Amino acid sequence: MTIQKATNIYWHKGAITKQDRERLLQQNGIVLWFTGLSGSGKSTLALAVEEKLFERGHLCMVLDGDNIRHGLNKNLGFSPEDREENIRRIGEVSKLFSDAGLITMTAFISPYRKDRDQTRGLLKDGEFVEIFVKVPLDIAEERDPKGLYKKARAGEIQEFTGISAPYEEPLNPELVIDTGKMNLAESVRTVVHFLEEREIIKKA
Ligand SMILES: Nc1ncnc2c1ncn2[C@@H]1O[C@H](COP(=O)(O)OP(=O)(O)OP(=O)(O)O)[C@@H](O)[C@H]1O
Ligand SMILES: [Mg+2]
Repeated sequence: MTIQKATNIYWHKGAITKQDRERLLQQNGIVLWFTGLSGSGKSTLALAVEEKLFERGHLCMVLDGDNIRHGLNKNLGFSPEDREENIRRIGEVSKLFSDAGLITMTAFISPYRKDRDQTRGLLKDGEFVEIFVKVPLDIAEERDPKGLYKKARAGEIQEFTGISAPYEEPLNPELVIDTGKMNLAESVRTVVHFLEEREIIKKA
């Protein structure tokens, strides 16, 4: 748990609420938290869902692991402590985006259950949707879109999730997308259908 360092700080509330912004945008500000092994399809799926929703007039924001590590989290590595801080910051940023009324999608391995649960705890009930992008390790390794598994097996990358660092599967995710069995189009349809059923977006 991160300690609050500053004292004498007060929350300054504005007249425009999250609900006002949601009304303007005609959608619910929520966080779709994609979690899974490297190569499971988190980035591919989140960006494809964004495209589909954008066509339907919805404003989304995808926060992607490597991109965030280029900026906001460039001072963090892959030790357990840094992974925890990485996810804590992303959790706070995704809360800000969802407060702005956006359908916020995050594509981080986020291997630790307690870190994901901590983010869930930042948000109201129903605002945090955990999507387990599930794939057997051997398929992820075969895909190896960034060549990272090869490097990890060769010992060139330490603490690589699935090889030399743990991945804790979600126990109660809102949605499981098995990309070992479903192609991208089916996976996108499943996510969009879920959002319609939960009335996060209107049916097309
Ligand atoms: N149903 C599917 N959904 C998403 N990607 C799929 C699916 N089926 C196959 N793929 C392929 O799996 C690969 C997933 O790579 P991607 O970079 O999206 O993974 P990732 O989970 O974001 O990994 P990392 O944690 O390293 O960023 C891509 O090559 C993609 O084409
Ligand atoms: Mg990715």
